[in-house]
Amino acid sequence: MKIYKANIIHTPTPGKLEIIPHGYVVVKSNGLVEGIYKELPENMDWRRQVMDFGDKLLIPAFNDLHVHAPQYRNMGLALDLELLPWLNTYTFPEETKYADPEYARRLYRRFVHELWMQGTMRSAVFATIHPEATRILADLFIQAGMGAMVGLVGMNRNSPDTLQNTTDEVMAGMKMLKAHLDEHGNGLVTPIITPRFVPSCSDKMLTALGEYAKETGLPVQSHLSENRSEIEWVKQLEPDTTCYGDAYNKYGLFGQTPTLMAHCCYTDGEEMEMMKRNGVYVVHCPMSNSNLSSGMAPIRKFLNAGINVALGTDVSAGHHMSMLRVMQYAIQVSKLNYAQTKGEMQFLSLSEVFYLATKGGGAFFGKVGSFEPGYEFDALLVDDSYLNYDNYTLEQRLERYIYLGDDRDIKRRFCRGVELTEPCFN
Ligand code: GUN
Ligand code: FE
Repeated sequence: MKIYKANIIHTPTPGKLEIIPHGYVVVKSNGLVEGIYKELPENMDWRRQVMDFGDKLLIPAFNDLHVHAPQYRNMGLALDLELLPWLNTYTFPEETKYADPEYARRLYRRFVHELWMQGTMRSAVFATIHPEATRILADLFIQAGMGAMVGLVGMNRNSPDTLQNTTDEVMAGMKMLKAHLDEHGNGLVTPIITPRFVPSCSDKMLTALGEYAKETGLPVQSHLSENRSEIEWVKQLEPDTTCYGDAYNKYGLFGQTPTLMAHCCYTDGEEMEMMKRNGVYVVHCPMSNSNLSSGMAPIRKFLNAGINVALGTDVSAGHHMSMLRVMQYAIQVSKLNYAQTKGEMQFLSLSEVFYLATKGGGAFFGKVGSFEPGYEFDALLVDDSYLNYDNYTLEQRLERYIYLGDDRDIKRRFCRGVELTEPCFN
């Protein structure tokens, strides 16, 4: 049992902050939240165990539901093209380097360290086609104590010869990764089935991955309706489908097991209904959608329809690993969308994006992203004292932290009840 005292802020319901000034969160030895309290119950045993964090903020840790680990080195570079030429010109050549496990180890260490730094305790990650490098990435997450779903990427068409795997190779690699994590994992790091996107995967590969999802129940992640040229291309490649999402659905890769679809900038009509019906998550990546001139995803429409929404950096189409930045972009893009639709699409509030960055995305990992009883205690302790010079309210302090804060403000990080010190990979 651990008891932490601080200014507690979380969002049990979307769009509504629950704030407990100088409250207590009681965490059981299994890492789950027992409860939060304004005052501790009269229990002498409990009172002696309190760790008092003074006036700092205690918030749920962030969850990045779409990020490409092998694009880490390209972060902040090469954002002068749209999606398809961007992939060919900058992204595929960098990912090709991950055939070398030593290169992979060197860069993946930095990547995992940076996630830790930014307070992202759980992530859904694309690796590359390379099984050994992908296993190295998974092992680094285990070493760091962070949660991650790690995807060996499947791609066997419309990509450079040096960055393609066969259906047999991706299947063998997935099975190796699953066996490795079943044996050596800690339950926090698990595999996720990862067809890159429809243009990269033959029908045969999609069929095999869909069957593997059905057989294992493993989750799925991919890209959907990100950019207009991409959508046109998918129509040509898959003429027998009613929409882009249907091309995944046909193969059992669209909510038949828990599924993440990044972007959905142009998702509407039938595609949207299918996502709703199948419980598919939209992963909104507004930083990436701005950088690659992709478009503005209609997040308000998705929320109104009751579709699950999470947030992602999409590094390196997104240029920063901080979920604070993603929250800023999510609000700002939603305001441009609001203006563009003449107020029809109401913009997102701060508490809504805070929900999406914590509990919205956390839901994909189970009971994660909130401090309600039974939730896994994933938390950040934030020292915003340098921003709090004029007695702002706790709600204002959260707002200022989201807009003005950075990784230096995070003083402690917890994942499933365990405090994670800085990873030291040697
Ligand atoms: N679609 C297929 N691959 C990618 C990728 O690496 N990044 C983004 N943003 N979109 C993709
Ligand atoms: Fe992506």
